[in-house]
Amino acid sequence: MLEPVIAPSILSANFARLGAEVDAALAAGAGWVHFDVMDNHYVPNLTIGPMVCEALRRHGVTAPIDVHLMVQPVDALVPQFAKAGATSISFHPEASAHVHRTIQSIRTNGCSPGLVLNPATPLDVLDWVLEDIDLILVMSVNPGFGGQSFIPAMLEKVRRIRALIDRSGRPIRLQVDGGVKADNIHDIALAGADTFVSGSAIFGAPDYAQVIGEMQREIQR
Ligand code: DX5
Ligand code: ZN
Repeated sequence: MLEPVIAPSILSANFARLGAEVDAALAAGAGWVHFDVMDNHYVPNLTIGPMVCEALRRHGVTAPIDVHLMVQPVDALVPQFAKAGATSISFHPEASAHVHRTIQSIRTNGCSPGLVLNPATPLDVLDWVLEDIDLILVMSVNPGFGGQSFIPAMLEKVRRIRALIDRSGRPIRLQVDGGVKADNIHDIALAGADTFVSGSAIFGAPDYAQVIGEMQREIQR
């Protein structure tokens, strides 16, 4: 099992002071920055692009920036985010015409490739690419918005993917995104996740260190 990581989703941060928000979350114990990219096409919402990623790097963020692309098409954004300082780039297989090619492009651009499974997406999309990816992101809400409720059936999905990863013998991160909070993160960790995206539960709290600390204790418990 890989070292657990908490990745605050900046979707719920105050965008008017994004640099300070990211600094505060990292100082509070977050390991990665989860960067949600929405295009008002693949999902019905619109957020931020490579310029903001680059601005965070220029601001001095050295932590991994975990880019979650909720866009269609995917490919043109891969080199742009790589150049802007992304560490990992994850995408939804439905949004790419050639999933294997997109994975290869993320890799050759120097980033870690990840595949994202929506709540209703079956696991068979992983069958022929498990050797090529570094991260599997299980969406535990339908993508597009922060602040939604965790879909409980996703715990079983996480368990099944954990078994697949263990059988592969590869150090693939198993990430869960959507409705993750201090009061369900223990069950999510028990199911086999090692990377925890949380937006509203962190940025909506008055004290980031307190909530991230509580999440870390719940993961270890
Ligand atoms: C949803 C995004 C998530 C979202 C999580 O489409 O991918 O990263 O910001 O937010 P919470 O933790 O509030 O569900
Ligand atoms: Zn996300």
